[in-house]
Amino acid sequence: MIECIRVKTEDDLRKCMEIRRTVFIQEQNVPEAEEIDDHDQLDDPIADHFLFLKNGVPVGTVRCLKKGGGVLKVGRVAVLREARGGGIGKEMMDLTEKRYPDIDRFALDAQEHAIPFYEKCGYVASGDVFLDAGIRHRHMEKRNHVV
Ligand SMILES: CC(C)(COP(=O)(O)OP(=O)(O)OC[C@H]1O[C@@H](n2cnc3c(N)ncnc32)[C@H](O)[C@@H]1OP(=O)(O)O)[C@@H](O)C(=O)NCCC(=O)NCCS
Repeated sequence: MIECIRVKTEDDLRKCMEIRRTVFIQEQNVPEAEEIDDHDQLDDPIADHFLFLKNGVPVGTVRCLKKGGGVLKVGRVAVLREARGGGIGKEMMDLTEKRYPDIDRFALDAQEHAIPFYEKCGYVASGDVFLDAGIRHRHMEKRNHVV
């Protein structure tokens, strides 16, 4: 079981950003200027940051952007390397989606290597491969409340 915190304090936001720095900037060599943007503020009007803890220790993060039109853009999904492969990523996606009962569909841009992971979470890829921060991506979506 992991704990999901919707970030409301600078301290928790800092913990999310530390995970993103470790995973995206240090591990994947994403340039800092591309990884961190205007939505990475507590008072951003459309962003929600989530911090995930296992036994009280930060292990992962997700950032959601409320784009309007019933669409939630899910992104910056990161699990610390030492915590991967045990179901935490999938549980993070489940817990995040549950926070948005009124959203019609979830959308994300998946790094190509992560497509099988998002498929396990119920997402479907569409469109061509494109480059973002030099990394191959595809668009993926999932409808909410599919019966
Ligand atoms: C992608 C990521 C979030 C997955 O987290 P995780 O905790 O390792 O994933 P889980 O253990 O919850 O995996 C859930 C399922 O997806 C599968 N899966 C996970 N990563 C996979 C991969 N790279 N290829 C194939 N299947 C994968 C698992 O086997 C598991 O399948 P199962 O339910 O049948 O057992 C994690 O690897 C990560 O943070 N990577 C670096 C950051 C990154 O690339 N983020 C995505 C940006 S788009």
